Amino acid sequence: MRRHGRDADAFSASDPADPARHSRDAADPAPAMTVLTRRSFLAALAVAPAVGAASLPKLTVTKDPTCGCCAGWTEHVRAAGFPVEVVETSELNRVKVRLGVPAHLAACHTGEVDGYVIEGHVPAATIKRLLAERPAAKGLAVRGMPIGSPGMEVEGAEPETYDVIAFGPSGETRYARYKGAEPM
Ligand code: CU
Ligand code: CU
Repeated sequence: MRRHGRDADAFSASDPADPARHSRDAADPAPAMTVLTRRSFLAALAVAPAVGAASLPKLTVTKDPTCGCCAGWTEHVRAAGFPVEVVETSELNRVKVRLGVPAHLAACHTGEVDGYVIEGHVPAATIKRLLAERPAAKGLAVRGMPIGSPGMEVEGAEPETYDVIAFGPSGETRYARYKGAEPM
């Protein structure tokens, strides 16, 4: 049986359809343990001094207190070095309307960072690019909840391809495209 470690991933990256890639996940008898292990790992990353963390602005996440994938995304951006403040509310739609998120681009949580709105499971690398390029947009959105996006990892499931949309007064454009965690 093939190992599913980082090295094995690197060698099988050119063959994403290889069913052996997910053999460990499919056979995993304790998914809850796997999640705990992953969370512990991310927590360890979060306390380590992140490179450039001092220069990243605060990211405020507004989420429903019961949303699990929102917590997963919050861990993702925290691990990427953003100082994160979490606001919990069950009135998420009001927040989206106030911040001008187009209804058809709505997802679960809504973030705010340095004057931009971040709707849904936008990868941290693209948020950093947004802050570096500072386009004349209101914000970025990943519509819905694509499988494999940060916080929406499902063990053994094929990651979806999804777009990061820049939205604002001048309309909507595709700002990035990912398959799961990988930019395309
Ligand atoms: Cu979500
Ligand atoms: Cu969410």
